[in-house]
Amino acid sequence: MISLRFDSSGSFDSEYGISESDIVSLEADFRKLRTEMLETDRVMYDSGEIPRAKNPLDARFLWLPEETLEGYEKDREGSELGRIFKVANSIHDEIDAVAVLGIGGSYMGARAMMEACCDPYHNELSRGARGSKPRMYFEGNNVDNDASASLLHRLTLGGSGDTLAEKRHAIVVISKSGGTMETAVAFRQFLQALEDGLGSESKELLPRLVIPVTGASGKLFDLAGSIGCQEVFSVPEGVGGRFSVLSSVGVLPAALLGLDCIRLLEGAVAMNEHFRTAPFEENLVMQYVAVNHQLSKIRNKTIRVMSVWTKALESFGLWHDQLLAESNGKSGVGVTPLTTVNTRDLHSRHQQHQQGLNDKVFNNLVVESYRHDSLVVGQSARNQDGLNDIAGKTLPDIMNAAIQGTNDALHADGRPTTDLIIPQLDTYTMGQLFQMLMIATVLEGRILKINPYGQPGVEQYKSNMNRYLGR
Ligand code: PA5
Repeated sequence: MISLRFDSSGSFDSEYGISESDIVSLEADFRKLRTEMLETDRVMYDSGEIPRAKNPLDARFLWLPEETLEGYEKDREGSELGRIFKVANSIHDEIDAVAVLGIGGSYMGARAMMEACCDPYHNELSRGARGSKPRMYFEGNNVDNDASASLLHRLTLGGSGDTLAEKRHAIVVISKSGGTMETAVAFRQFLQALEDGLGSESKELLPRLVIPVTGASGKLFDLAGSIGCQEVFSVPEGVGGRFSVLSSVGVLPAALLGLDCIRLLEGAVAMNEHFRTAPFEENLVMQYVAVNHQLSKIRNKTIRVMSVWTKALESFGLWHDQLLAESNGKSGVGVTPLTTVNTRDLHSRHQQHQQGLNDKVFNNLVVESYRHDSLVVGQSARNQDGLNDIAGKTLPDIMNAAIQGTNDALHADGRPTTDLIIPQLDTYTMGQLFQMLMIATVLEGRILKINPYGQPGVEQYKSNMNRYLGR
């Protein structure tokens, strides 16, 4: 059973929103597209007979969570998930930090999971407070000299204790193609630094401390062979980069952080089941797409703002920006996704959102319960700040008032909103969220009559960059 809830009432308005009949008009098409995604595409994928318009057909993310859990049930040690657990449960005795190298779909999901599910100061906690789970850093997602140099320096410093483990780190390098410039260059540099740091022990330790996640062949796969990596995890065939968060690409870093990966996958399975069986009017994925799509079509809401009302979901928002932009921004169509973190960004973007060009829909992501006890404003003898009148209120009280107040204000200026309610942030709800938005993206891509998989437009900059490098 899914635990997410969707309230789209803030988008229904005769002046600025859509109507019930706009949504109902999509029902027949959506039901057909659901069958196409879940049945027709599966048959095409399995047979390998994929028509040109559907190539590439990276649809395997749709059944991957079930496949992964079943594989683990059948073979607890040898399955991909079993091997991930084995590495995650043993390597923390040897290291105190992990550098995750990857770009785009090959790192954004893992970072989103870390920010959503770990203490925001995870990397600053003592080894004991982290339960011996490693600190985690993300690189290979740029060619920023100082960012890379600083991380290399940070890793060399090690942890604050004297044990051998606290002096060591591992590298998780993720690239499906195995040839992406940013990640490949970073890997070369970080590998050299790790090797130098390990000195005479590098021959023995490097094969354990370098953990690649890549396709079944390619430059990174070959490099892994030459290093003699003990474990090489796969980005499964038929799973595109930005649809790979629930494969080893996201699951390995999550397991290294000690997150509950079984619940993560179960959350995705629950969302799959919901999408497959829930009737149109109760189907959260279909309703989310229907409302957003009709707002773009009928009311020209070409900017889709994901307003996350917790800092913990900022990277999740960026993961979604990438997913939607790279999937559906093709052939001159596709809305522009934009993440805002509130209340923070109410002080930077809201003026424009409230009164600027009326081209946006605001999808609020609201987390209902917090991990920590509510912080009270508090009574003070120094009432120069004038806060004693709300001394008994808590930060969640203020947050709720801000959410309601912002929605009301946006409606008053004719701007539609929706609320996606997340009961609490954990791996189970994150699994639901990831899967929901991946399905939603494909469903909308299909209505737009583009292929949501593949990213042909990204190739041009790569070949230009190579030319400028004299290659
Ligand atoms: O969504 C995608 O496919 C891209 O964002 C890729 O994930 C990104 O370009 C990295 O590619 P690779 O994993 O091949 O290094």
